[in-house]
Amino acid sequence: MRAVWIASLLLAVAVGWTALGPAGGATAQSANAAATEEDEWDGLPPGPGREEVFYACAACHSLAIVKQQGLSRDSWDESLDWMVEEQGMEPLEPEERALILGYLSEVFGIDRAKYKP
Ligand code: HEC
Repeated sequence: MRAVWIASLLLAVAVGWTALGPAGGATAQSANAAATEEDEWDGLPPGPGREEVFYACAACHSLAIVKQQGLSRDSWDESLDWMVEEQGMEPLEPEERALILGYLSEVFGIDRAKYKP
């Protein structure tokens, strides 16, 4: 009985080692790096202003509510005013606002060309 127990323990160790082996580990890791880059930003594609949008807008609600929109620059501008006037968002510094507006109208413009969910 004891021998069987030891054998299965050794097997478990061997299987664990294989899974973490150099070849398997490396592929899993690089696949992860690609997948998590946008996950980290809740699916926001890269671009100037992404970080600002992420921190300014995810403070109150899910970014899903932002990502589902496709608005012109003017409409985004109005949405930002509305966030401040009616929803309690802190007014953005002019530079930050310009970055955010640029990102939103570029990525979530009417054609949403830069956004592939
Ligand atoms: C202080 C909290 C707060 C912050 C910060 C905030 N929002 Fe909102 N936002 C809200 C609330 C609350 C609602 C829901 C309003 C409702 O549906 O009545 C909302 C709704 C929205 C909607 C949905 C509008 C619609 O037509 O359904 C959009 C788009 C939006 N926010 C964009 C943004 C963007 C972009 C930012 C970052 C620049 C941002 N929000 C930051 C509070 C906030």
